[in-house]
Amino acid sequence: MAPGGLVRSSHCAQSGGMDRRISARRLGELLDDRGAGRPAYQWLADGVRQLVADGRLLHDTRLPSERELVGELGVSRTTVTRAYGVLRDRGFASARQGSGTVVQVPGGPVAGGGEPLPTGPVQPIDVDAIDLTCSAPPAAPGLASAYARAVERMPSFVAGAGYFPLGISELREAIADRFVARGVPTDPDQVIVTTGALAALAAVFRAVLRRGDPVVVESPTYPNALSTLQHAGARVVGAPLIPADRDEVTAVHRRVGARMMLAMPDFHNPTGLVWSESDRDRVARVWREAGAIGLVDETMSETWLDAEPDVRPMAAHAPDCVTVGSASKTLWGGLRIGWIRAPHALIGAIARARTSLDLGAPVLEQLVVADQLERGGGLSAESRRRLIAARAALLRLGERCPGWEVDTPSGGLNLWWRLPQPRSTALVAVAERHGVLLAPGSLFAVDGAGLEARVRTPYAVDELVAAEAVDRIAAAWAQVSSAQ
Ligand SMILES: Cc1ncc(COP(=O)(O)O)c(C=O)c1O
Repeated sequence: MAPGGLVRSSHCAQSGGMDRRISARRLGELLDDRGAGRPAYQWLADGVRQLVADGRLLHDTRLPSERELVGELGVSRTTVTRAYGVLRDRGFASARQGSGTVVQVPGGPVAGGGEPLPTGPVQPIDVDAIDLTCSAPPAAPGLASAYARAVERMPSFVAGAGYFPLGISELREAIADRFVARGVPTDPDQVIVTTGALAALAAVFRAVLRRGDPVVVESPTYPNALSTLQHAGARVVGAPLIPADRDEVTAVHRRVGARMMLAMPDFHNPTGLVWSESDRDRVARVWREAGAIGLVDETMSETWLDAEPDVRPMAAHAPDCVTVGSASKTLWGGLRIGWIRAPHALIGAIARARTSLDLGAPVLEQLVVADQLERGGGLSAESRRRLIAARAALLRLGERCPGWEVDTPSGGLNLWWRLPQPRSTALVAVAERHGVLLAPGSLFAVDGAGLEARVRTPYAVDELVAAEAVDRIAAAWAQVSSAQ
């Protein structure tokens, strides 16, 4: 969905006109071994098709010239010519004047609002705009192969009813094992699989909150969690970000008699902050003393880029807290798979609340996530490399827009800029005319106002798109700041 709730399913503007290419050597490394029994041209065409399907070769990537590929792969020129011909016939490549052969996703890539945000009224979407309202990356390279393996497992399931309101057992086990590996004793009975982390939050709110219950939330925060809390009838009470003011967080809990705190200790959205071990101990103590339920959103926890943070999960500090997680940021938002880990005392109530919302996540997607967790899980090296490159490209906003400052996050998916003037809403309006969709700082404020000197730029986009976005935002900011 687009801002304002409009369903968006457009073709991406992603990379039109931008020069993305793959070298013959890199393509050679990515292709499977040739094996016997298949003509070489077919091996090459199938290999490229598989790389496109798996998200390793992106739409609009220029393939090596026939001559370069002949040298690299040790095949004949006829083989490469024929393979490129097959790819063109099947819609996986096109010949472009002056650019040689260029990869195509048949039908074109389809964008989806990665992180639909509850902004403003419904309005028509400019499909050529670069959408930086979303902090959600494309599918992890290799996901299409995981789907293929999952399809092979389906015969075991289709004989049954297909409803798994708590999740299929192999995924619940894989999720529990991951918690154990991270130092949090967990048995599969403590795990419920959901259709994403947002649905997980909704189930927990429904299970434990009564209308008017005070819930402490750091401000800024993830806007969809806020609107879900509001729909649950909670009284949302803003608190400062934990590392900035720990004592105030304690005071807020006492003052309002908090029933719950929604916390994001690992790569907080939008700031990217990570709580230290002592922050975690301290907040765990606050929850214990206040009798409040800690609800920990770990959606971003595995998105570290530079080095894995040396901290234990919040559930290792506060064993009674409830944790929600998601496959959206490490694997793909389109899977719509998330989970809840809760203490035994709460899991029954949460399971009942969940079945009042929906009756389980799709089996195929659960198998895909189980497959990926059993193979190690986490962000792939390739996804991390892409995010680091896009982060570097977007950090150039600091050079292009005088006075813009940011604390470079070591993970998460966003840059949370400080602007020299409180003109975030104006910037969003002007940027849209320059072909970039942004979310204003106020959207992340717990009370829906303020934070006008902030803007969030997600870097879960292609590096070339990020560089183009920088040009467009810099032009928009020049206009906004000169109109003071
Ligand atoms: C902090 C946070 N929590 C939850 C979600 C929703 O995740 P899911 O796609 O698993 O519903 C997001 C998505 O951006 C997020 O950033």
